[in-house]
Amino acid sequence: MIRTLLHYQLKHQIVDVPAFSIPQAPTEAITLSQRVAYLLSDNHESLLLSDRILRTLDVDLATALDAGFRQEDPLALLEIHKTLYQIYEVSLCHPLSPVCQHEHSPWLLNIRRQLETAWMNYELPRILHQLPHDHTINHPESLSVWFIDQAHKESETDRAVLNFFKTQATIENFKLFLRSEAPLCFRFFDALALAQLYSSEIVKAEITSNMWDECGHGIEQNSHINLFTRMLKALNIEPPKFPIWNDWRPYAGYNLYFCFGFNRQHYFRSLGSLAMPELFDSNRNHAITTGLERLYPDAALRCKYFYSHLEDEDEHGSNWLSRIILPISKIQPEAGMEMAIGGAFRMEAMRRYNEFLALRFGL
Ligand SMILES: [Fe+2]
Repeated sequence: MIRTLLHYQLKHQIVDVPAFSIPQAPTEAITLSQRVAYLLSDNHESLLLSDRILRTLDVDLATALDAGFRQEDPLALLEIHKTLYQIYEVSLCHPLSPVCQHEHSPWLLNIRRQLETAWMNYELPRILHQLPHDHTINHPESLSVWFIDQAHKESETDRAVLNFFKTQATIENFKLFLRSEAPLCFRFFDALALAQLYSSEIVKAEITSNMWDECGHGIEQNSHINLFTRMLKALNIEPPKFPIWNDWRPYAGYNLYFCFGFNRQHYFRSLGSLAMPELFDSNRNHAITTGLERLYPDAALRCKYFYSHLEDEDEHGSNWLSRIILPISKIQPEAGMEMAIGGAFRMEAMRRYNEFLALRFGL
């Protein structure tokens, strides 16, 4: 059995990618996510008690779904999202890892489908009131304005977190924040790549431009993953091997990229969801760099990752609107609505992530 998914390293891989821990014995596989991790770790003939654990999964799943989405128990929601995170990792991890043999196994697809369906059914009613009216959907320019307005809406917590970064966050606070950001930074290129499958030429061109930035314009040391890793090193931060989150909300925000990216039916939602950070990140990154400059006189050198994003974001934001949202919604208003749903889901996820940060910072 593998000790961890990190056991397998790509030859030229510089950073450890976040993955998940594997229970080493069936007695350690207690929760839903632990049981799924255990069942993923090898072929079931080689795994002790795998049959028995497989038989309990339906009950585990029904219990978690009820507690999570009906009773809104945060621990059940954490189990649900940890499990989904692991399932998405199967399609993103090293191809020679034993977990990959389960990628399309009926037992895993069944769990994934139940989790995703219940999750989407839970979320949709929560964003309905934010969605654009028919008039907006039928006027693509108005839909672009809707995206900008939604991206710039700030809750009190959003404002408090940005203000905290600017004026009060300590080095320890920033270390926690950057360790929390790591999983998505390491996987963002993949989230973009999933939005490339069979789309229009103009959409491909715009996403390719984002991906070109992500890979450092072909210069390995300038790729965003490498800039992020170097920033961690420059700030004496150990890159986390697994997500450090002890809360369902950051898991849900991360999972949203892959729930949309791995489900063809959610393709337009993935475009809407990817558009939002291009529109709100610039404000966020300004707050972060202001805080970093307060703590490190050489922040621009140590934290090039954030400065390089500041240079790109304004252009990316307006291009996503003019080259993706606008042309697609002009041709097909229903696709415009799907993109708006994806955008609203992303904003909800961003607000929840800020609530998680506010809690961790004691705000
Ligand atoms: Fe990036």
